[in-house]
Amino acid sequence: MRISESKIDEIRNSADIVDIISGYVQLKKRGKNFIGLCPFHSEKTPSFTVSEEKQIYKCFGCGAGGNVFNFLMDFKSISFIEAVQEVAEQLGITIQYEKDFYAEGQSELEELYEINVLAARFFSDYLLKSSEGEIARQYFKKRNIKPQTQKIFDLGFAPEGWDNFLHFANENKIDLQKTKRLGLIDINDRGEYYDKFRGRIIFPIFSPNGRIIAFGGRILENRENTAKYLNSPESAIYLKRRSLYGLYHSKEEIRKLDKAILVEGYMDLISLYQNGIKNAVASSGTSLTEDQVQLLSRFTKNIIVLFDADAAGQKASLRSIEILLKQDFEVKVVSLPQGEDPDSFIHKAGKDKFDELISSAKNFLEYQAAQYEQAGMFEDPAEQTKAIRELVKSLALVNDELKRILYVKSIAKKFNLREKLIENELNELFQSQKQKPTIAKTIVPRQNFSNGSASLKMPQKYSPYEKELVRLMYSGNEEIVRFIFDNLDYSEFENHDFRKLASIVEENLVVSKISPAALIEKIEEEELKNFIFNLLLEDEQISKKWDEFSFNGKIEKDTIAYAESVLRRYKIFQINEKIKLNSQLIEEAKEENEKMELLKKNKELIAEIKILNGRLE
Ligand code: UTP
Ligand code: MN
Repeated sequence: MRISESKIDEIRNSADIVDIISGYVQLKKRGKNFIGLCPFHSEKTPSFTVSEEKQIYKCFGCGAGGNVFNFLMDFKSISFIEAVQEVAEQLGITIQYEKDFYAEGQSELEELYEINVLAARFFSDYLLKSSEGEIARQYFKKRNIKPQTQKIFDLGFAPEGWDNFLHFANENKIDLQKTKRLGLIDINDRGEYYDKFRGRIIFPIFSPNGRIIAFGGRILENRENTAKYLNSPESAIYLKRRSLYGLYHSKEEIRKLDKAILVEGYMDLISLYQNGIKNAVASSGTSLTEDQVQLLSRFTKNIIVLFDADAAGQKASLRSIEILLKQDFEVKVVSLPQGEDPDSFIHKAGKDKFDELISSAKNFLEYQAAQYEQAGMFEDPAEQTKAIRELVKSLALVNDELKRILYVKSIAKKFNLREKLIENELNELFQSQKQKPTIAKTIVPRQNFSNGSASLKMPQKYSPYEKELVRLMYSGNEEIVRFIFDNLDYSEFENHDFRKLASIVEENLVVSKISPAALIEKIEEEELKNFIFNLLLEDEQISKKWDEFSFNGKIEKDTIAYAESVLRRYKIFQINEKIKLNSQLIEEAKEENEKMELLKKNKELIAEIKILNGRLE
């Protein structure tokens, strides 16, 4: 089933996000926007903001945000298509579905998803019905995974043999090249296709919205020289750094309990789920990535990390914790008894003991301090300094100043350390971080106009003009957007993220699809998306500063004249940067004619600025 792009556009453009969200959240008008209590996390003061003009929403508390479709997908845990259908229904728009699944012009991605669905069904049929599947059924029995749990996670079995799936694919006229891209089959030197997953238990990997994006396969018995798990390679629908195993199954519970448990393995997650602990996610044996943490932060900011007792487990966990702290998570840790993982522990000890273990979780910094204390480091002055330095490294990752101060106090108190000692060490660390030489010496420190959350996830160095131009590009005013692109090659932007954001607008300008609600669907990176939300929804505040800075309210904002003025100032700024760089080179130049050349260039540049200045205002 497929809905055409143009129909989706029509539905998005006809919908009023305020109307639709009002059906679920009580909204109040404030300034240009509407605000309410966020339905995605619990809060007492409203930080959920909906813009009627831009047709987007954003919660400044938990980070959830998107257009009308994203809201319904998240709120009701439904797919994109279902959300489109729901909006269409409310608007009384009828949808004509495009023919058959393999109809021409079908979106490539949809076809990849469909292949995975067919493959998952093929693997689960083997597990549930066939005689070859008996050994897999026995395996699950041995590992205490009940048939019902197998169904919930859509588990399956790929029998031994080189062409079981291949036959199935051929019979069902599945495109083999695409199947290869998904990593289900590969091709040998003689140009023959063969199955990748052989003799393995299959774990489909789901997107947060429940689509099958990849597979993990476990061998039945551990063998040397064979990887225990085989995982699908990255593909157009599977980005490892952005998917979290188990999130689809656990997101509701995570939201409800406002906390998540981080484990390592597929089996850990499934085993906990079966035992009623349904708020876990699995990192799949590696440390978490920033994208994964960002994804998780839409559901909670509280996490309990379950350390495997082994060294590799600890190392991965430490790295994960660093990333979690950086994104303002409240991190607690629990260590499991030696030799156990969450799966084996809950099986042996039962749910009550597991719950006990979880409630004994310690704040990460306390945990770290406790480890040093146990090692006797706080008794020896030299060792104490070392330990404090390590603790301070973790403390420095906490962005929230208030939180940091509280941590310092509690650690000092608990471990009988002098508060001042920790503070001094922390200040020294911050000082030394500040003094680190910047890599690009041509970039001068830039003013940062947003000081609020708009800049949180973005690199700190960019020109305020670039930022204002990006804001204008995402303003939805086609005349202004065309004017900017007529006069500016955005590839000149110094900031890489801005270049990317600008290129998305330019691509869509060709088909005149530049409404903010349509554009944000095209931005893939969570961080960039957030940046745009902040930029658009906080723009009243930001632009006030902008007015004060250089325009004194002389030009009406968000007009062509305003865009022109920003553009011109940006060009002047760029030229000034070049002049500064040249001046630096002049100082360093050894040869006289090299110096002359540079001086001449600077003269030309200054003349250029004069012309531009003359045209200003
Ligand atoms: P573990 O070795 O801890 O396995 O790897 P496990 O999850 O406990 O599995 P069982 O209990 O032995 O069946 C943890 C995770 O690391 C990834 C998998 O995601 C696994 O669940 N991993 C491990 C791989 O991707 N490849 C491997 O070869 C091993
Ligand atoms: Mn295990």
